Amino acid sequence: MHNVVISGTGLYTPANSISNEELVQSYNTWAQQFNAENAEAIERGELQAATESSAAFIEKASGIKSRFVMDKAGILDPQRMKPRLPERSNDEPSILCEMAVAAAKQALERAGKTAADIDAVIVACSNLPRAYPALAVEVQQALGIQGFGFDMNVACSSATFGIQTACNSVQLGQARAVLVVDPEICTGHLNFRDRDSHFIFGDACTAVVVERADLATSKHQFDVVSTKLLTQFSNNIRNNFGFLNRAAEEGIGQPDKLFVQEGRKVFREVCPMVAELIGAHLAENDIQVSDVKRFWLHQANLSMNHLIVRKLLGREASVQEAPVILDTYANTSSAGSVIAFHTYQDDLPKGALGVLSSFGAGYSIGSVILRKR
Ligand code: COA
Repeated sequence: MHNVVISGTGLYTPANSISNEELVQSYNTWAQQFNAENAEAIERGELQAATESSAAFIEKASGIKSRFVMDKAGILDPQRMKPRLPERSNDEPSILCEMAVAAAKQALERAGKTAADIDAVIVACSNLPRAYPALAVEVQQALGIQGFGFDMNVACSSATFGIQTACNSVQLGQARAVLVVDPEICTGHLNFRDRDSHFIFGDACTAVVVERADLATSKHQFDVVSTKLLTQFSNNIRNNFGFLNRAAEEGIGQPDKLFVQEGRKVFREVCPMVAELIGAHLAENDIQVSDVKRFWLHQANLSMNHLIVRKLLGREASVQEAPVILDTYANTSSAGSVIAFHTYQDDLPKGALGVLSSFGAGYSIGSVILRKR
């Protein structure tokens, strides 16, 4: 069994950002139009009036102030309220592939590796662009990587599940190094006409090089001390989009074919599960919670992260201990915890311990214990 390190990380951030104020202005314009157009049906009680959204609520309830997006104009157009991302020919790189390549190149550079050093590509994310060919194989070709590639989806936990899968391959000698990429266009599955959730997501892509410790040369290495995963079925975060939709025409275009959640229930149920899993994982590795210098947590809701770390540490965590990126990125699904890891790692001293943790639909939870080399 080979020892494994994460030797480089990369991040692609879209050029445009939408503030809460801009998003709410667009939503409220749509809500007013909807109410005016449907005034009679609303009056007769056949339709429910749309209630206006508020930027102050969004920041207070979630900690989110803005989000990066792949297409700002389409989302903010009250007549459209979804990104406009034109189809591309089969001969052009897909948009998710472009994001993946940008993040991957940075991860390779930080790892001091080239395509020739990588034996596998795992694309791990919440939403894939098509049924096949696998996006990972397209990314593999775009980067000139030999070996194999495949896609996997465990919603917001895709990155940590991908990292564990990559670690297994490297430990077993099936690959010297594996590139794990998490391209997320979450705005593609977000219902911008749903007041409860229209503010939740943003777009981004992260990449991680997982490689054999004895081959790693970069200055950005973390030992992968241990990984631990957990899933437990829940309908509280769900998206029914799928290949059988066309076989049930009555459901096409319905709101359940986009992201839907019971936010309160998710909050209540997931926080204790995450704290318990990380606590148990550290205990299994004879690590005291107080020895962990940094928690790179999934970035969905600031209060969730505060609660999880409070449960673990028995006190409030500082922003150095549990860094926040959701204020400017919102929830970028699987990319979120890796953005935090990528952005807040270089200051850690040799030997410092950290936990990278994701949580989300499934439910799915991942914990990766890392030690700075
Ligand atoms: N603007 C203004 N008011 C709003 C609003 C909006 N956009 N959306 C909801 N409200 C109102 C509700 O109508 C409700 O009003 P009421 O108390 O009069 O009934 C009130 O605000 C509280 O709504 P609620 O949905 O219970 O808010 P919340 O405090 O639970 O926050 C979330 C909502 C989504 C931010 C929060 O539940 C959350 O983040 N949950 C976890 C989500 C998560 O991590 N998901 C993982 C996805 S991968």
